[in-house]
Amino acid sequence: MSSLPVKFIDVCFSPDLIHLYPTGDRTVVVVDILRATSCMVTALAHGVTSIKPVAHLEECLGLKADGHITSGERNGEKVPGFDLGNSPFEYMHEELRGKRIAFTTTNGTQALDKVKDAREVIIGSFLNLKAVANYLRTRENHLLILCAGWKGKVNLEDTLFAGALVHLLADDFTAECDAPSMARHLFEQARPDLHSFLKDASHVKRLNRLHIEKDIAFCLECDCYDVVPVLRDGVLVKR
Ligand code: MLT
Repeated sequence: MSSLPVKFIDVCFSPDLIHLYPTGDRTVVVVDILRATSCMVTALAHGVTSIKPVAHLEECLGLKADGHITSGERNGEKVPGFDLGNSPFEYMHEELRGKRIAFTTTNGTQALDKVKDAREVIIGSFLNLKAVANYLRTRENHLLILCAGWKGKVNLEDTLFAGALVHLLADDFTAECDAPSMARHLFEQARPDLHSFLKDASHVKRLNRLHIEKDIAFCLECDCYDVVPVLRDGVLVKR
């Protein structure tokens, strides 16, 4: 009787812990629910050709000369001189179709930078949760979910996404340590009402102070887009 090879799943709760996880043999799903990876998924779903994630503001601004739209934030706020900020609603506009974006954010693009040499890197959010799960079932690689967190600290919303993905993939992957079941237990508690569960989350409070509540509600919607962004030669494109 032939048995399928075991595929392992693990969760890294902060980019500052990434040194503990091998990435050369696995697919890494990078997640920053509020709001970087939700914006990336939205932008590609609405016809943006590619997104170049960069860690530093200056590098991002420099890419304007090369025809990129410059976008992103620091501490949740649009950067002076940039074309766009970090609200998913900004990435739905018709005039962005066919455009290339250079994107830098406080945590999301920093997390991406840390795993750029992984075997494969894809982008997850609640907006494309099922599409990501379906794609991962077809892959032979082990899996690591990397939560972007906040400046090295763990956050609730990325952990909930990790738990949701672990839940969907429970029959396909084997947990490698305790982190996947921690995330899954938390997701199961939060599942009836993600929005209420997150009402005291630190980044939710931060975004509320900036009066961008509608972004939070949108970023917590599930399965709006059948899109899986994948990193190819340093650029995110639709798979
Ligand atoms: C980040 O990358 O830290 C976030 O996307 C911050 C934000 O909500 O703008």
